[in-house]
Amino acid sequence: MRYLKQYKMSNIIAMMRNNRKEPETCNDDFEGRLVIISGATSGIGYETAREYASHGANLLLINRNEEKSIAVCEEIREGFRVECDYKIANYARLSDVRRIGKELLESDIEIDVLIHNAGVYSTKKVITEDNNELSFQVNYLASFILNYMLKDKLKAGGKTRIILVSSEGHRFAVRGIRLDDLNYENHRHTGLGSYGVAKTAQLLSVIKFVEYFEDSGVTINAVHPGDVKSNMGLNNGRIYRFFKNKIINRTLKSPERSAKALYYLGVSKEVGGISGKFFNLTTEEEPAPPALDRDVAEELWKATIELVGLE
Ligand SMILES: NC(=O)c1ccc[n+]([C@@H]2O[C@H](COP(=O)([O-])OP(=O)(O)OC[C@H]3O[C@@H](n4cnc5c(N)ncnc54)[C@H](OP(=O)(O)O)[C@@H]3O)[C@@H](O)[C@H]2O)c1
Repeated sequence: MRYLKQYKMSNIIAMMRNNRKEPETCNDDFEGRLVIISGATSGIGYETAREYASHGANLLLINRNEEKSIAVCEEIREGFRVECDYKIANYARLSDVRRIGKELLESDIEIDVLIHNAGVYSTKKVITEDNNELSFQVNYLASFILNYMLKDKLKAGGKTRIILVSSEGHRFAVRGIRLDDLNYENHRHTGLGSYGVAKTAQLLSVIKFVEYFEDSGVTINAVHPGDVKSNMGLNNGRIYRFFKNKIINRTLKSPERSAKALYYLGVSKEVGGISGKFFNLTTEEEPAPPALDRDVAEELWKATIELVGLE
């Protein structure tokens, strides 16, 4: 428990207070701007796509399901008279993620807001065909690869706001990241623990990317999007689904609340220039100590590049 002494009760109290706060909203126009959102076929990603489109933004969605993507894009084009296109990638397959990275890199698009939202919560330990724990790969490695592949292009463009949809669930990783055992071969896998580790890894990547983008006009922030009703966790077994539908869902709010926060973070003048922060909806908050460990951030950065073969 190397982080034990760094935990502060005041941070937990702040989190509880921020969870109850309504997000700040932004009504500025975003006409003709380009927003990329992953995981826009349900829940938070879907509502966020609608929110941006309702302010005139054009959309490029990165989803894993073609049928759902066609339906969402049609609905958005008809409803808001904006452009909506999609790319298909299953983040449980890294070759898909690299292909998308390459396509974006080679295209001449200028990205105004890049929202990494696709995510999964798995109670079971699942190892992907790339030999990574599923939650770690979908929640962390995929967004890392895209940010890493696009970093020079984004820096040259000098305007993108990158938003990582993280979670207060990162606090479940109380022991931090086990860099020597990312696939849980020698320590116990739990759904909450692995989700916490993946979201902590995402937050640690912010520490490094913010250094890279310093003074470039590109910002990168992470957000807890509120506790909202969505399809999250429905990939799990019957008992979990019963618990989620009958108990957890009763306390959850609408993902439209998350969408308002994600619009504020991507568009409002108040957030322009702010980088390297963690927000609970739209309130800046201090993450848990393992997500602030600069040494681990450094090691994880190197380990990730090696793991996914980026250099
Ligand atoms: N809901 C909450 O209370 C809450 C709280 C904190 C953080 N979050 C975070 O918010 C984000 C969105 O979650 P949500 O609650 O809106 O859940 P959701 O309704 O389950 O949406 C998840 C999205 O990610 C996509 N996705 C899942 N696995 C994927 C894969 N292997 N490859 C590509 N896309 C994949 C899903 O696609 P399909 O439609 O094809 O399944 C869906 O579009 C996640 O990062 C989650 O961790 C949610």
